[in-house]
Amino acid sequence: LAAKYRLLMSLTRNLYYSLPPSFRFAARRLYYLPTDTLDRISGRRDALTPPKGMVFTGSGGYREQGQRLFDRFVRLGGLQPQHKVLDIGSGIGRIAVPLTSYLQPDTSYEGFDVVKRGVHWCQKHISKAFPNFHFQYVSLNNDLYRSDGQNAASFTFPYPDQSFDFVMANSVFTHMLPEEVNNYMREIRRVLRPGGKAYASFFILNEESKSGMQGRRFRFRYNMGHYRLIDQRVKAANVAFEETYLKEQLIRSNGLHLENTYYGYWCGRAQDTCEDFQDFIFFTRAT
Ligand SMILES: C[S@@+](CC[C@H](N)C(=O)[O-])C[C@H]1O[C@@H](n2cnc3c(N)ncnc32)[C@H](O)[C@@H]1O
Repeated sequence: LAAKYRLLMSLTRNLYYSLPPSFRFAARRLYYLPTDTLDRISGRRDALTPPKGMVFTGSGGYREQGQRLFDRFVRLGGLQPQHKVLDIGSGIGRIAVPLTSYLQPDTSYEGFDVVKRGVHWCQKHISKAFPNFHFQYVSLNNDLYRSDGQNAASFTFPYPDQSFDFVMANSVFTHMLPEEVNNYMREIRRVLRPGGKAYASFFILNEESKSGMQGRRFRFRYNMGHYRLIDQRVKAANVAFEETYLKEQLIRSNGLHLENTYYGYWCGRAQDTCEDFQDFIFFTRAT
């Protein structure tokens, strides 16, 4: 039975990734149409929660997941109400929403993303009520989310040097290739204030995770050297990095200093010993 289930899941995933990004968005909207219509008619959904069919940024309850991430930033990362925040890959505002009742009105939140409809939803619903929250659409390529755009490996963040106290990239570098992440790490260093903090989640490959993921449904089959892919056609579907490459090349060589690593349960670690499914790190400017 388990083998049949695995086969069915693998076929479903193959089918899903064979669709162009715009079809994947449409499929989600269609799937949730009855629930979303009911929520709209009954007035069950509040103004800061998007319809389920629009939430393209991960599973689980939109508000619950956002709150969980927010708690993490405060509890483990030392995020403070006066901090100026940058949210890389702000999606459809899952992290921004809980921040609206935490950040002081005289500081600001900046988010950018490559998916136009997510950015527009945030501008219309979040920025309208909280004018110190800004969202920008950037036209960059990512084969999971869109079929065109510029190369993220040569993108300059649209913010001045040393302008943020806290920078976050949740579940973004798990969908980007090494050269792109390398550029984003360089950019994070540039826009962080001295003493500022950064957060990013990853899938980290080490001996433990590589042996743990064997035989699991969620595993990185395609070995590209210092990184691995879950799907060869849609490279950004999920990307994992070798731990040494991540810590030496992406972090240390870019003038960043690693503070803490929290390993996740994606590769079979006991769930109750982990903070999350993905691995995540906190880091700072080295100088
Ligand atoms: C899994 S979602 C996570 C969204 C958000 N960080 C959250 O946790 O709710 C990944 C996001 O990264 C965005 N993304 C992908 N490539 C990007 C890039 N090069 N620059 C900025 N955002 C990107 C996607 O559009 C998507 O919104």
